[in-house]
Amino acid sequence: MYEQASHSLLNEILVQLKPEIGNLRLRHFYTRLGANFYAIHSLFRLIYGERADFKEQMVSLVETLALRYMERAPHLRKSDLAREKNYNWFLSQKWVGMALYCDRFADDLKGLREKLPYLQELGINLVHVMPILDCPPEHSDGGYAVRDFCKVDARFGSNEDIEALASTLKRRDMLLVLDVVVNHTSNEHEWAQRARQGEKKYQDYYYIFDNREIPNIYEESMPEIFPNNAPGNFTWDEEMGKWVMTVFNNYQWDLNYHNPAVLIEMIDIILFWANKGADILRLDAVAFLWKKMGSQCQNEREAHLILQLMKDCCQVTAPGVLFIAEAIVAPGEIAKYFGEDAINAKECEIAYNAALMALLWDAVATKNTNLLSRGVKNLPVKLERATWLNYVRCHDDIGLGFDDNDVRLASYDPVLHRRFLVDYFTGKFPDSPARGLPFGENLKTGDARISGSLASLVGLESALESGDAAAIDNAIKTILLLHSIILSFGGIPLLYYGDAIGMLNSLEYLADPAKREDNRWLHRSHFDWSKASKRHQTGTVENRIFCALKKMIALRKETPVFADFDNRQLLPVDNANLLVFSRTDAQNSRSRVLVIANFNPEAQTVPVDTLQPFGFFLKESMKNLCSGTSIPMENNAITIPPLSFYWLAD
Ligand code: GLC
Ligand code: GLC
Repeated sequence: MYEQASHSLLNEILVQLKPEIGNLRLRHFYTRLGANFYAIHSLFRLIYGERADFKEQMVSLVETLALRYMERAPHLRKSDLAREKNYNWFLSQKWVGMALYCDRFADDLKGLREKLPYLQELGINLVHVMPILDCPPEHSDGGYAVRDFCKVDARFGSNEDIEALASTLKRRDMLLVLDVVVNHTSNEHEWAQRARQGEKKYQDYYYIFDNREIPNIYEESMPEIFPNNAPGNFTWDEEMGKWVMTVFNNYQWDLNYHNPAVLIEMIDIILFWANKGADILRLDAVAFLWKKMGSQCQNEREAHLILQLMKDCCQVTAPGVLFIAEAIVAPGEIAKYFGEDAINAKECEIAYNAALMALLWDAVATKNTNLLSRGVKNLPVKLERATWLNYVRCHDDIGLGFDDNDVRLASYDPVLHRRFLVDYFTGKFPDSPARGLPFGENLKTGDARISGSLASLVGLESALESGDAAAIDNAIKTILLLHSIILSFGGIPLLYYGDAIGMLNSLEYLADPAKREDNRWLHRSHFDWSKASKRHQTGTVENRIFCALKKMIALRKETPVFADFDNRQLLPVDNANLLVFSRTDAQNSRSRVLVIANFNPEAQTVPVDTLQPFGFFLKESMKNLCSGTSIPMENNAITIPPLSFYWLAD
C-alpha cells in the first residue's frame, strides 16, 4: 500500500545510508524495499514508535538489509528471482525432508556431504542439519545455546564447510535447512559476557533485574519449560550480581526484543545464514519471543509482530528464503505463526504440525482414531502459501498438546487421558510394548512429556528382545502407518534420521555428564551405519522399513494431489479405528487419492457405500498405490488389514 509518511521516511533514510550502498546494482533491493517498507515501518513503529531513537533504529535496520543484500551471492539472487516467480515452489509434493545431527549422522559437515547418497537413495531432498553453531561443549542444549551466531562449531567444521555443503546440496537439487536460535543465547555469548562485565548496552539485550521483585511477578504466570533440570524462569548470575531471565536452561539467556537493537542483530544473523546458502531457516522457540508480565510469555501478539518484521525484512534481502516456525503450542495457536488476518503467509511459510504429531501418538496408544480424527477435523485452517511440516518424531520430547475440548469430546478426561498416554509410552501401562521415558515431569502440575525413539515407542525394542515375530511385525507396521500419514497429509514430511532403519533407544548419553540429565538424548544417538547397511539385506527389519518408506516417498513424489493446496478433506466413517481422508487435485476433481489408515491391530472392514455421500464408490478397480494391486472386496465391503493403510486411486 502507498502511504505518504512511510514514503517520505524511506526517502529520508535512503539519503542517510552509507555511500557504498548507493550502488546501482541494488535495483531489486530497492524495489523490494519499496514494496515492503510500508509494512516494515508500520510494524516497527507499533513496537518501537515511542522511542526517541526510533528513526536512527530504522536507518540501522535498512542499512543492515542493504549491506546483507550487497553481500548476497549472484546465484542466490538468481534463485530469489526464480522463487519469486514460481512462488508456490515449496508446496509441491516433491519435497521430503529429514532432520539429522551432522556429527551423530556423519562425524562432521564434510562427512555429511559424503553421506548424501544415502539420503538420496531414500528420496530425501530437504535436509535439516540440526544446530551446528559454536556452543560451550558442556552447556549446549544440543546446539540451542549458541555462543557465536556466525561461526560453525569447530567440532563440526567451518563456515566454508557449510557453504560447500550448501552448493553440493544445490547440485543434487536438495534444500538446506538451518536453525536460527532467535529466542536466547548461551550465557557465554559475547553479549552475555559483556553484560556480565557491566556494559549497560548489553544488559539491555536481556531481561536483567537487580532483585526478585519483577521476576516474582513474571513467575506468577509463566509456566516452567524444564521443571526438573531448570526450574523457574530466572537465574542468579553471581558475576553480575543480578537475575537473568532464563526460560529454558539456566545457561540460556532470553533475548529482550523490547530493545530494537536485538531485533536488528537477529535479522542480521538471519540474513547472514540466508547468504551462506540456507534455503529455509528454522526459527527456534518463536512462541517465546515476547515477554510480558501477567502473561504466560508465550504466543503474545508482539511475538507475531516481531516475526512479521523478520519476514518482511527477509523478503527485501533474501526473498527466496523461507522460515519454519518451531512453535510447539496449542493447536489453535500454531496456525497463527503463518500470520493472522492475512491471505498469504506473512510470518513463517512453514510450521511444525505438532498437533498432528501428538494426535498420531494418541492413535498409537489407544489403537483408535477417536481423538486423531477429531483433532484433524479441528486443525485450524491455513493461509495460502503456507504449509505444515508433518513429522512423527524429532529430536525433542513428545508433548501431549491436544485441545482439551477435543479430548473431552472423544470421551476422555484430559488429565487422566494424558496420564494414560505417559504410562503407555513409558511402558507402565499393562501390556504396553513401549519403552519411552517421562520427560519434564512436573510434580506441581502433573504434566509430563515423553522421550524415546520411534521404534522403541512403538514396541520394536521389546519385540526384538522377546523375539516375538508378530510383535515385530506390528511395530514395523506402525512405523510405516505413521509415515504413511505424514507423507500423504499435505505439507512437507520431515523424517527423523534413525527412523528409516528402526533405530532403538540408546543409553550412550548416560556416560556423558553433560547429557545425562536430559533424556531427550535417548533418541539422539549416533547413527548406526552397520545397521543401515542391513537395509539391502532382504527380510531384515531395516530392509522392511527402509524399502517400504523409500517406495512411499517415491509414490508421494509422483502423485501431484499430495501437493499442499489445502486439498484435503476428512471423511467421517462409522469406524473409530480408521482415519480416512481424500486428497484432490484442485484443478481436476477426478484426480484424487483416498487415504484409509487403520490404527487397530485387528483388520477393519468398510462397506462399499460408506463414502458414497462424498462421491467415493469403493470399487474393486481402485488401485492401492503402494502395492500396485486392486483392493480385496468381499460381501460388499473392503478390508483394511491390521495397522495398515491404503492410498487408493480411482
Ligand atoms: C524448483 C527447484 C527449487 C527452486 C524452485 C524455484 O522447485 O527445485 O530448488 O528454488 O523451483 O522455482
Ligand atoms: C527448541 C528446541 C529444543 C531446545 C529449545 C530451547 O524447542 O527444539 O531442543 O531445547 O528450543 O532452545
